[in-house]
Amino acid sequence: MNNLEKIRVLVLDDEKDFTEELCEYLTHLGMDAVEANTASEGMKVLSRSGFDLLVLDVRLGAVNGLDVLKEVKKMYPGMEVIVVSAHGDMDTVINAMRLGAFDYLRKPFRHIDIQIAIERTRKFLWVQRKLRQAEEKNSLISKSLEEKIDRQFIGVSSQIQEVFDAAMTAASYPDSNVLITGESGTGKENIARIIHYSSTRKNHVFCAVNSSAITETLLESEFFGHKKGSFTGAIEDKMGFFEVCNNGTLFLDEIADMPLNLQAKILRASEEKIITRVGDTKQIPTNFRIISATNHDIEQKVTRKEFRLDLFHRLNTLHIHIPPLRQHRDDIRPLLLYYVELFSVQFNKPRVQIDERVFDVLMSYDFPGNVRELRNMAERAIILCKADVLSPADFPVRAGLQTSDPTPEAARRPAPNPPTTEPESSDLKSHERALIRSALKQCSYNQTAAAELLGITRDTLIRKMKKHQICITRKDDSES
Ligand SMILES: Nc1ncnc2c1ncn2[C@@H]1O[C@H](COP(=O)(O)OP(=O)(O)OP(=O)(O)O)[C@@H](O)[C@H]1O
Ligand SMILES: [Mg+2]
Repeated sequence: MNNLEKIRVLVLDDEKDFTEELCEYLTHLGMDAVEANTASEGMKVLSRSGFDLLVLDVRLGAVNGLDVLKEVKKMYPGMEVIVVSAHGDMDTVINAMRLGAFDYLRKPFRHIDIQIAIERTRKFLWVQRKLRQAEEKNSLISKSLEEKIDRQFIGVSSQIQEVFDAAMTAASYPDSNVLITGESGTGKENIARIIHYSSTRKNHVFCAVNSSAITETLLESEFFGHKKGSFTGAIEDKMGFFEVCNNGTLFLDEIADMPLNLQAKILRASEEKIITRVGDTKQIPTNFRIISATNHDIEQKVTRKEFRLDLFHRLNTLHIHIPPLRQHRDDIRPLLLYYVELFSVQFNKPRVQIDERVFDVLMSYDFPGNVRELRNMAERAIILCKADVLSPADFPVRAGLQTSDPTPEAARRPAPNPPTTEPESSDLKSHERALIRSALKQCSYNQTAAAELLGITRDTLIRKMKKHQICITRKDDSES
């Protein structure tokens, strides 16, 4: 249909009188009607321009109209066909419908009959077109949304591979609740999205809710929805998170902060999968999955009776723990490479090299903010970097947070700045002292270079040198 009002029809029948008369009538009704009297002529006309409808006789001389129907449906699946026949035996009718005819009229028929049949087809075509447009729009929206969503999960370490494998298992059980634990910035929400978008729920809503960010008075209506007029401010009916997430995923962030009275209601909703809006009595079934996350020790909260044990069990069907970045340092390099590349492209910056010493500095840093902190460091470095090589100075790490607690894998890897004059110590102070002395030595006692190597400012280095009583004697430029 060129526009949704003017329908384009081909009338294909071997009786010239019939096609002429019908075309005249349809044109009179405002349609764009064309006639053809043989199958080959009809196929040629159809190939020329976009027809919406074919009125087809079952007998076209020697050719069986049903064969034409089959061919047309294959070549032009969006076109509808009304079959007409003087020999309307039941078998032909059934075959025509099976082959995809939209309607069947027996000759002779009144003009009003074909007008009604065409009108019905036109409406069907219109609805189909609208549906297609909506689907196209939806898929464009969801595609652009998906692109915006952070769903890369980078990591080569066995710990992160385990997390990823657990996420894939969770994705293949789309009705089981998942609890994700881990420190802030370890990627809990990231993993929750990966589970959702890898599961059969992916074409439905993923709704992330931080219950600690919603005022307590609004919590219930936010989760369960409300009926218009049920409280001041309820100016219209509203769906809550449980309803919005029908067939999708409800991500409850910071679950440990959920008030106790709401915990009971959430437990019931998640067990029954039926909710009632605030101020209403109607029961609404909804099929949601809960993925929850916390960076608190939720079991401790259970012990202290601040979190319901029954809800904890309900949410904890599958448990995924994401370790802090300092426990899987092997991932620092791939993560840094990934984010440097990502932000270079995003900020339209030329590609930069990364000085090997940057990795050394980062490998000995504890990353209290985990991957989020590393990501922010990379973003900042790309924004501020003027040279074509990123150096330790572009990655100022928080002084005093260089690792003092080497994990087994940290112990296995070579120390970035091995202290040459002192044995390794697990004591933070002596470790820091050793690092500073080693950096000074590596930089021939140039304080600016040593500070850069350590990723701290020169002033901080001098302060720390004082603290550790490290002096450089001018005479031979060595420290004592
Ligand atoms: N393995 C990873 N690969 C790539 N990016 C990651 C990874 N883990 C985390 N990130 C990124 O780190 C940032 C923080 O992740 P996310 O928000 O998922 O952390 P979180 O555990 O939910 O933190 P919080 O407890 O503070 O809410 C995000 O930008 C996320 O994309
Ligand atoms: Mg989070």
